[in-house]
Amino acid sequence: MSLETPQPHFIQLHQHDQQAVRAELLTGLAQMPARVAPKFLYDALGSRLFDAITELAEYYPTRTEALIFSQRGGDMARCIAPGSVLIDLGAGSCAKAARLFAPLQPAAYVAVDISVDYLRASLGALQQRHLGLPMLGLGQDFSSELALPEAALRWLSTQGAAAAPRTVFYPGSSIGNFTPPEALKLLRQAHALCVGGGSGGGLLIGVDRVKPKAVLEPAYDDALGVTAAFNRNLLLHVNRVLGANFDPAQWDHVALFDEAQSRIEMHLQARSALAVQWPQGERRFAAGERIHTENSYKWTPEAFAALLSEAGFAPATQWTDSQGWFSVFWAPAT
Ligand code: AVJ
Repeated sequence: MSLETPQPHFIQLHQHDQQAVRAELLTGLAQMPARVAPKFLYDALGSRLFDAITELAEYYPTRTEALIFSQRGGDMARCIAPGSVLIDLGAGSCAKAARLFAPLQPAAYVAVDISVDYLRASLGALQQRHLGLPMLGLGQDFSSELALPEAALRWLSTQGAAAAPRTVFYPGSSIGNFTPPEALKLLRQAHALCVGGGSGGGLLIGVDRVKPKAVLEPAYDDALGVTAAFNRNLLLHVNRVLGANFDPAQWDHVALFDEAQSRIEMHLQARSALAVQWPQGERRFAAGERIHTENSYKWTPEAFAALLSEAGFAPATQWTDSQGWFSVFWAPAT
């Protein structure tokens, strides 16, 4: 590779060291009921299992959102300021954002993801196909705090993009992993991020809508058992982090829509009474006891529009599919 080849710049935030990750897991496992955060679903195998989920007939969100982007992308591009800094939350493969490069003509691309190794690979490959676009990879867990670190602001300055509008891109309905108060907090931080740049910034976000249980539950409990494998794989990830001995075969996948809370809940349910050990402790589970692994909130279009305005955004534009199953919102910051 020539020294001339542009390379993405990387910043890894060490706010999430292994000790903190272990402490968080132990706290959750000690609770009644036990809980493990959904980010533990995404180790290397988990990320591949999630990609497989997006191919399943029952799992409609990914393809529905992609259809909205392909059909309404022109309308979206007309709403969004050209030459903005495109900030991609949970970038992963960076594939969704890459499709926006041609219509949006961003001044720079900032890809944020907790899984920095995966990000390095995908951003490195993407840079070779977009040689003229400055790219920054940020290894950061934004679920607790979303802000650009000082080093990222300095990088934007060196790219001449410090005063450019900021387009925050949060596709895939991952906002559904947050409770409404947490989602409001994250949206407020996204709003502050937009306001920190030039005028014309805003948030482009995918949100899954409330729909009948008969559609929702199979999307999270598919016939092939891919989502069950995705959920159980979290235990193998926990085993590696803690040195624990969870046996995934002892746990059933449970996915239920709670209409009162408007959320899919995923759990792992112990098939029999069992105990799990790790170097400094253990946890006993009764037969039928559950570990709560994920919430996936479903929003009505009205409730999500209200949440965006509560977070400080100007009235949003919204696009949906023919069945009204999924929404993409453009919320201008001012
Ligand atoms: C990536 C959080 C949007 O909630 O639909 C898919 C994760 N969990 N199947 C979702 C998921 C089980 C997904 N998000």
